[in-house]
Amino acid sequence: DTPERRAQVEQDLNRALEAGYALLEQGALAEDAVCAAIRVMEDAPEFNAGRGAALTSEGIVSMDSCLMTGVDGEVGSACGLTTSKNPINVARAIKEKTKHVMFAKPGDNLLKEWGIELCDSEYFITPARQESLREAQSNGDEWEKHGTIGAVARDASGNIAAGTSTGGITNQMPGRVGDSPLPGCGTYANNDSVAISCTGIGEAFPSPRRRWHDRRPRPWRRCDGVQQRDDELRLEVPEGQLRAELTP
Ligand code: GLY
Repeated sequence: DTPERRAQVEQDLNRALEAGYALLEQGALAEDAVCAAIRVMEDAPEFNAGRGAALTSEGIVSMDSCLMTGVDGEVGSACGLTTSKNPINVARAIKEKTKHVMFAKPGDNLLKEWGIELCDSEYFITPARQESLREAQSNGDEWEKHGTIGAVARDASGNIAAGTSTGGITNQMPGRVGDSPLPGCGTYANNDSVAISCTGIGEAFPSPRRRWHDRRPRPWRRCDGVQQRDDELRLEVPEGQLRAELTP
């Protein structure tokens, strides 16, 4: 991590926020803002999503995404994407154009039918990610994991949405899928409670021991717009706003 890289990341995060805010100010839906913000980050090579996604042990990308709307609990998710420029658009297409929730490796013909822009593998692979993969393979470190992205928004009607996009973990085994595309796990939105997008090592989230959306009453602790109880997190997003965070 260099100061230059951090500055670039912060600049890209601001662009993502602005893209989302601009839509919310025009009265767009929460999911419009979430997808707009995520697309900016997917297009920026600094983040582990879209261009610049982490590489698997085979040196290719395998990207996952999810979009959920809190007003109706509708969700779309995809895993194992290798050609979709903006994986969040695939999640949205699944949510809005099919009666299904999740697709694994949807074929290019189907993606084209859904209007998804496709790219060759060279588009996604950056020198920085190749270097991370080399390091991971020479150090036996398969947990280089930072940079999964997400956004949550609340629109002028008070409806909320959450989206997540990731390349998973550097040097992950081919076929590995983390938490991000799992509804209610890496991505969750419910108008009655919360919109949330998770980052971190995805294996921890599906564990029943760590089900943060468990509704048993426990005391909330408030800190800076984030409420936390035990291992559970709840973000408070004021109406008409969108939130993005730089994770360590
Ligand atoms: N949290 C992203 C992943 O584990 O794939």
